[in-house]
Amino acid sequence: MGFSFSVKGAFSLLALLFLTSLNLCSATRKLAALVNPQPTVLSYHNGPLLIGNLSMNIVWYGKFSLVQRSILLDFLHSLDTTPTPYLKTSPKPSISSWWKTLQSYQTLIPKKPHKISRNAQNPIAVKVQKQTLHESYSLGRFLTRAQISGLAEKASRHGAMVIVITAEDVAVEGFCMSSCAHHGSTRTSKVVYVWIGNSVSQCPGQCAWPFHQPVYGPQSPPLVAPNGDVGADGMVISLASVLAATVTNPYGTGFFQGPASAPLEAVSACPGAYGSGAYPGYAGKVLVDPTTGGSYNAHGVNGRKFLLPALWDPLTSACSTLV
Ligand SMILES: *[C@@H]1O[C@H](CO)[C@@H](O)[C@H](O)[C@H]1NC(C)=O
Repeated sequence: MGFSFSVKGAFSLLALLFLTSLNLCSATRKLAALVNPQPTVLSYHNGPLLIGNLSMNIVWYGKFSLVQRSILLDFLHSLDTTPTPYLKTSPKPSISSWWKTLQSYQTLIPKKPHKISRNAQNPIAVKVQKQTLHESYSLGRFLTRAQISGLAEKASRHGAMVIVITAEDVAVEGFCMSSCAHHGSTRTSKVVYVWIGNSVSQCPGQCAWPFHQPVYGPQSPPLVAPNGDVGADGMVISLASVLAATVTNPYGTGFFQGPASAPLEAVSACPGAYGSGAYPGYAGKVLVDPTTGGSYNAHGVNGRKFLLPALWDPLTSACSTLV
């Protein structure tokens, strides 16, 4: 049994906490869900988590504006938690403090492998490595999950994770019907990947809430998207959700609640909450930019503001929001 990455360069998908049998798995970010009033405990299923410096290759499938790409790239650059001047000066609440909550999942692993010291919380840093543009829709405008996985397989090099992002005019199997995003690992080479799609013209009420009126449930006025793009700001929420799930449950054997085929993971266990006092249909009390009116709860690089979903915090066994 074994699983190894060929590692090149300073940033590579370094690490699995330990090795185990690997299965294809795919978990989804559910449609805009209501706040879950039940106390939640994610249990650990004896498999690896991702730690260390995570290289990411991005596949942009379809047409995106430069602004849309820069919104998503600035979010990803904000997850690079290796010490930089930005981290020292970044205003609070910061994206990196949200991301660092994921490190503390390691403390709930009962027996650590020999390379990992018992109480250590190994850092998890994201580094964008390579981007590929597919502006000619080479596989058409409807993608199956298998095709997404195939795009990921092709785009991975030297153990890099892959983020597949589909444009607003691309339909994806299950998109809008059951999910807004999903993550998994490919069947043959176990490439870890996530998929997110721009929902703005297909189902913003499901996948871009709270920046769009919800399609069902209690109605409240939509929030203003912090970067002025409902589709891209909605994709940031999806990306944050599936990346958190990927790090803590990369192969379906990490942290989750419920059945492995429909798991509640780091973010999906805490649906619909962005600030304190959230309840079904109300995202909670968040910060508002006085100039743009945009709602946010986290600062990122390049002066960006983002709205990030609640995250299950293993230290308190509860869902927590940044504000
Ligand atoms: C991750 O990258 C940083 C910055 O390049 C480096 O200092 C650190 O040692 C790396 N961490 C691991 C676990 O390789």
